[in-house]
Amino acid sequence: MFYCSDAIFDPKLSIRMNRITRLTVSSSLILLSLPLLNSCKNNTDLKSDSDQGSTDQLKEVTSDAHSFSNPQDVSIQHMHLDLAVDFEKRVLKGSVRLDLDRKTKVNVLHLDSRQLQIEKILLDDGTEAQFLLSEDVEYFGQDLAINLKKKTKSVTVFYETSPSAEALQWLKPEQTAGGKHPYLFSQSQAILARTWIPCQDSPGVKFTYSASIKTLPDLIALMSAENGQKKTKDGVYAFTMNQPISSYLLALTVGDLEYEQLGRNCGVYAEPSMLKKCVWEFQDMQSMIDSAEALYGKYAWGQYDVVVLPPSFPFGGMENPRLTFATPTIIAGDRSLVALIAHELAHSWSGNLVTNETWDDFWLNEGFTVYFEQRIMEKIFGKPYEEMQTKLGMGELKHTIERLTRENKVDDTHLYLALTGRNPDDGLTDIAYEKGRFFLQTIEYAVGREKFDVFLKQYFSENAFKSMNTAKFEAYLDEHLLKGDSNLYAKIQPKEWIYGPGLPSSAPNPESEELKKVEVEILKFMNGDHADQLITENWTTHHWLYFLRGLKDKLDVNQVAELDNVFDLTNSGNNEILCDWFQHCIAVEYEPAYQNMESFLTSVGRRKFLSPLYEALVKTEEGKEWGTRVYEIAKPGYHAVSSNSIEEILGL
Ligand code: BES
Ligand code: ZN
Repeated sequence: MFYCSDAIFDPKLSIRMNRITRLTVSSSLILLSLPLLNSCKNNTDLKSDSDQGSTDQLKEVTSDAHSFSNPQDVSIQHMHLDLAVDFEKRVLKGSVRLDLDRKTKVNVLHLDSRQLQIEKILLDDGTEAQFLLSEDVEYFGQDLAINLKKKTKSVTVFYETSPSAEALQWLKPEQTAGGKHPYLFSQSQAILARTWIPCQDSPGVKFTYSASIKTLPDLIALMSAENGQKKTKDGVYAFTMNQPISSYLLALTVGDLEYEQLGRNCGVYAEPSMLKKCVWEFQDMQSMIDSAEALYGKYAWGQYDVVVLPPSFPFGGMENPRLTFATPTIIAGDRSLVALIAHELAHSWSGNLVTNETWDDFWLNEGFTVYFEQRIMEKIFGKPYEEMQTKLGMGELKHTIERLTRENKVDDTHLYLALTGRNPDDGLTDIAYEKGRFFLQTIEYAVGREKFDVFLKQYFSENAFKSMNTAKFEAYLDEHLLKGDSNLYAKIQPKEWIYGPGLPSSAPNPESEELKKVEVEILKFMNGDHADQLITENWTTHHWLYFLRGLKDKLDVNQVAELDNVFDLTNSGNNEILCDWFQHCIAVEYEPAYQNMESFLTSVGRRKFLSPLYEALVKTEEGKEWGTRVYEIAKPGYHAVSSNSIEEILGL
């Protein structure tokens, strides 16, 4: 076998590779494979330049355990994409030009690449660059090492994606609301951007971008950038994002979409048959933006739009800058699930402006965002509404802590995570979201809301367009708010929150008058009252969720049947309620619900709904069999993010 020994012994490269592979693959030595022999002809630069790396540099190289890139030597400043969307082959094909900031004398650019077919790489002087692709590492993909010349300021990579690129989901017309046109969307967070663009796929690296996307006429292409809003005749769309963003915020969707303005600087894209419903549901969008700005400073991105995707979108929402991607499962017809929009909007500050440096710092994105989301919701919908959400959040958090403890994953209940060598997806639990939010709430209670708001506003403005890690946040918190005050430290217990398990004793105990009323009804039902005797008038989605969660594992099949007869829960049009309700149905094998459950599982791809249902199903042999059968039918419609998780649950 022929391989490039110079590159193998690149000390920086091997350290990086070891770090990523140590815990994920058994082989200790990674040989660099050679997809293109030609790429290996002359790599003396690779060796000599990287030899100059000092130990300090090595430390920095490894600061993001989930990226092969070397941004401390050379970082992407601007990216220009030129891609054609091929629905027949299910690939994106074209090129990406990366404009570089050369920070040291190192002459190698390391990029993250996964499932990509690299055709050739050109330097800005028109010559072909030598490059090497390492062996593929599970979840992480390949290190694409490109040889630069001293004066190289940009490289252009010509490539094609794979039909199974994990970031991309290609939908047939029948998987859309309209049924006539194919559809494509991307999901880059956490480390999937590298499956559709070779890049420095690390949240700590920020760059501006522009793009030209060619698709079929009749379809519109949209990105996390400045969009045209209207279809073009030739199917070519140009985009610019002039503010620096991280790779996980790169996003593209293509489909038969129309736009409607909702306010001064916001609007919604949806398939034509959905547009009116979406416009109605999102009526509060402008006031959400206004409230958010009043809290923590000006919205930095100009326009804020939401695109409502087909139901296979694996998440509730994704905060792609200027263009949130959202699941249609929040279109409940009663505006009861719009907190998700407040959440994604809040990311325009926490996450998109001030960004977690690595996935171990994920709580800095999500915990801040849940806190911020609740502040927006409180302003618009009032305190009782916010209290219900917060109380539900605490319930979910306690549930998650119990589960992780039971599964011997206590370390995953720390805010600061240890995800080296693991899929960052492992960190996607309620810990980052809810424990993060309650930590911030604890600080708020200790210092007072007024002071905390001043602090947060300054935090966002001083750190805008930068990245933040947990240690830096602790230092910032001390310098600007706690100022070494030992009383405050004792009251808040920051170290316990960040580096300790479960919930510290300083954790708040949220109360909700509205949900207390629900507790009364739960008790009545448990004590033998009939379902039709319960007082449920004016209950909102949150009351119902609290009711169903309060009854978890307490019902027999007759009680489930009775609740269904009186409240018709099996036919609820609300996906959140359905998800909790079906868990009851599975627990007691309540037959009449299975048909609707099957259509739910085969039409909705949101992982948050799918996982608990499949988990409930695998608890019995029959359930597992039924679940596996339904999964086989549903699988072609699921995004890889969801099917990977479900296959793990089903043991496939
Ligand atoms: N950024 C997340 C989604 C995400 C996180 C995708 C990590 C991939 C990796 C988004 O802001 C989010 O939190 N979505 C939630 C909704 C929210 C209301 C809690 C979701 O999708 O359920
Ligand atoms: Zn979020």
